[in-house]
Amino acid sequence: MSKQMKTLKDIIGKKINEIGGYIIKSGPGRQLVSVVYHSRFFKLTSNRIYEMMDRKLLEEVRKHKLPEHIAIIMDGNRRFADGLGLDHNTGHLLGRDKLDEVVEWCFSEVGIKVLTVYAFSTENFRRDDEEVSAIMNLCAEELEKGVNDPRVHDNKICIRVIGHLKSLPKEVRNAAKLIMNHTKNYDKHFFNLALAYGGRQDILQAIHCIARDVKNNRLKPEDIEEEIISSYLYTKGLPDPNLILRTSGEERLSNFLLWQAAHSDLYFSDVYWPELKKGDILKAIRTYQQRQRSFNN
Ligand code: FPP
Repeated sequence: MSKQMKTLKDIIGKKINEIGGYIIKSGPGRQLVSVVYHSRFFKLTSNRIYEMMDRKLLEEVRKHKLPEHIAIIMDGNRRFADGLGLDHNTGHLLGRDKLDEVVEWCFSEVGIKVLTVYAFSTENFRRDDEEVSAIMNLCAEELEKGVNDPRVHDNKICIRVIGHLKSLPKEVRNAAKLIMNHTKNYDKHFFNLALAYGGRQDILQAIHCIARDVKNNRLKPEDIEEEIISSYLYTKGLPDPNLILRTSGEERLSNFLLWQAAHSDLYFSDVYWPELKKGDILKAIRTYQQRQRSFNN
């Protein structure tokens, strides 16, 4: 499209928005918009439109090299709940349901090999006891359910819970051990759930283990290279994340995968985690692919 055409399109678009805004702001206009917005017809139509757009985007994404490892900072459960007048624990519940969907999109639809999600940081323990215990119950429930979930076994998903497991409640620790044990031989997909996780703590525990191995003559100090350090981290044996996605408009790493993120592409989405759509994930992957193209050219 030529530059003039693009400018004309922008001007017309702006005018339409202004007129639309004027109609919506008027009393009857507002009522009409509300009736249309809440109608079954509107919902069905917009769902159809989203489906069509997703299908097109998925086709596009599949034509190019996929990121092998996607890591996600799931953020915004409480703000999403606040916006709807719901309590925070309901926000976390909706966040848990979203995770279920995202795992399915990434593994079954897109074909991503490794997915790591930041569910609970070492800093999150500072939240009030009632909220921490509600989140921990959700985590235990989710991990227990996963043990017998046919999707885990049919798709051969190796599940690891990464983080300072000793600081987790017993139920979560036991459920984590169980699912890790049941899925340890799978290698089609890898799913890492970061719980009680901190990037600095990950590096620190690696340093402790390296020091122990040096002391026991299992490792020579002069042999410590980058690959050796990577092999002592919680994500050992897996590639570093190619793409890190964070929801909710915050643009920080918040102590997530600090060592592993050295060369990762970062993508920040304005939507709160529970409202993330398949199209948002696809857009993030497509952006990554386009950035790779310009980076490699
Ligand atoms: C992020 O939003 C959510 C958390 C830090 C807590 C737990 C994550 C989930 C419930 C999703 C995955 C669930 C399971 C069970 C693995 P926030 O609470 O930081 O919200 P805010 O940014 O709006 O305050």
